Amino acid sequence: MMIFDFSGKNAIVVGAASGIGKAIALQLADNGANVWCGDISEAGVSATVDEMKNKSEAKYGYSVCNVSQKESVAALFQDAASAFGEINIVVNSAGVFMPKRLLEATPEDIKKHLDINLMGIVYGCQLALETMIKQGTGGKIVNISSVGGRQGEAKSPFYALGKGAVLNWSQSVALYGAPHGINCNTVCPGIIKTPMWDTILEADSGGDPNVDKEELFNQIVRARTPLGRAQTAEEMAYAVAFFCSEYADAIVGQALNVDGGDKLN
Ligand SMILES: NC(=O)c1ccc[n+]([C@@H]2O[C@H](COP(=O)([O-])OP(=O)(O)OC[C@H]3O[C@@H](n4cnc5c(N)ncnc54)[C@H](O)[C@@H]3O)[C@@H](O)[C@H]2O)c1
Repeated sequence: MMIFDFSGKNAIVVGAASGIGKAIALQLADNGANVWCGDISEAGVSATVDEMKNKSEAKYGYSVCNVSQKESVAALFQDAASAFGEINIVVNSAGVFMPKRLLEATPEDIKKHLDINLMGIVYGCQLALETMIKQGTGGKIVNISSVGGRQGEAKSPFYALGKGAVLNWSQSVALYGAPHGINCNTVCPGIIKTPMWDTILEADSGGDPNVDKEELFNQIVRARTPLGRAQTAEEMAYAVAFFCSEYADAIVGQALNVDGGDKLN
């Protein structure tokens, strides 16, 4: 069902092989956009594109890309521009979870993590701004942070560090882009049972194979969520699609929690 009309709009979704990024790519495709997908997982991203091809006559494609390397993200933008011409929408969703505690992580661990969760978004936004400003027709940029970026975290301080920095960075991108008619906003997901939760539950169970991971997940959801349930990747995609739509033309540099009431800021 079409909720928004992105017919004739060209989108890039980075991190589209799995979970939230995949749901975003499918949501934009459902609403008529041409979608170019990027991800480090070729098997995953090609499967997302195959799924989209069954949906409509719009154009889809993918590039394998490692967001921690700017030249790799630049090649993805080049591929998308060659296929579509203009780029109107860019969504940066690629990310990983980092369970190490504050004094456990080596400088290499920290760099590797921030190269993906922070620098990946920095490069994606730089390329989006350059491309959209050159085109001169405005655009929409949406970054995926996390409620985990809203405050410090004892169990996952480096994840919080990267996601918190994404909130600040997105405001800078919004201020730079606004005079050019480019809106940058952020979605902060709460708890969505994607493959990322395999890493979180493994860490939270202390690697104990006897811990019932499903029950642990449900306990975490109950403890954190006033709404009483986990959220879905599709619910994240609705919020992203709204930010990408004309109805959000006046929204600049905002971060929206989609988290069932977990965080109220
Ligand atoms: N699932 C949640 O509960 C939750 C909550 C808050 C925020 N988030 C954020 O949502 C975003 C999507 O996560 P998800 O839950 O869908 O997880 P996921 O693991 O399902 O998807 C993450 C995607 O990023 C890709 N990726 C990882 N490293 C990459 C790299 N170096 N280059 C390119 N692609 C790379 C993966 O291949 C995968 O397709 C992430 O930024 C995550 O931090 C998720």
